[in-house]
Amino acid sequence: MLLHIPGVLSTEQVKAMRHRLDTVGDSNIEGWVDGRVTAGHQGQSVKRNQQLAEQSALAQMLGGLILAELERHPLFISATLPSRVYPPMFNRYGPGMAFGNHVDGAIRLMPGTGVKLRTDVSATLFLTDPSDYDGGELLIEDTFGAQAVKLPAGDMVIYPSNSVHRVSPVTRGERVASFFWIESMVRDDAQRTLLFDLDQAIQGLNPACVQLTGTYHNLLRMWAST
Ligand code: NI
Repeated sequence: MLLHIPGVLSTEQVKAMRHRLDTVGDSNIEGWVDGRVTAGHQGQSVKRNQQLAEQSALAQMLGGLILAELERHPLFISATLPSRVYPPMFNRYGPGMAFGNHVDGAIRLMPGTGVKLRTDVSATLFLTDPSDYDGGELLIEDTFGAQAVKLPAGDMVIYPSNSVHRVSPVTRGERVASFFWIESMVRDDAQRTLLFDLDQAIQGLNPACVQLTGTYHNLLRMWAST
């Protein structure tokens, strides 16, 4: 399921975050580094961007703010049924930068913990307004072909981590975003999508039907592992 999740961050939160990200500087342990530091074998040859160093205090602080918002975002919870969320990372594409076709690695180590996370769902949270840059679309291949995603700052897209995707070259301005992965309690995308559709349909009922709510929870009980 590819889903647009609007309003993860407010305009004020994006502005404050961008101020910190835009003033942190380049090429040191706290600042922006070559994005290939975390790329796998396949990613090395196609990844051309910058990333905030994963161990930087700023990345951890801003990532914590994003996680706090997501914990209380009903659409995010309903759509991903999160078991674990990888600490959000930050990337930046200037003119000429791009990330060619790739699939995200299946397993990631949570930094500093030794805990493994299976990437079921990939997330990109946009931190630049679309009018401030050209190019830089996130192109996600699904059964309908490549879907081009370019969202307002503060909005997020989630999509299955096994999708082939890429970021088209930025031709003007800078594209700043946060990206991370979710291990879901329900690893199968089709099951997760069915649960999401059912949950959304129930929420549209007034009053909610007890039997349908029960069916949702019984399916979740059948398919979820915590
Ligand atoms: Ni990716």
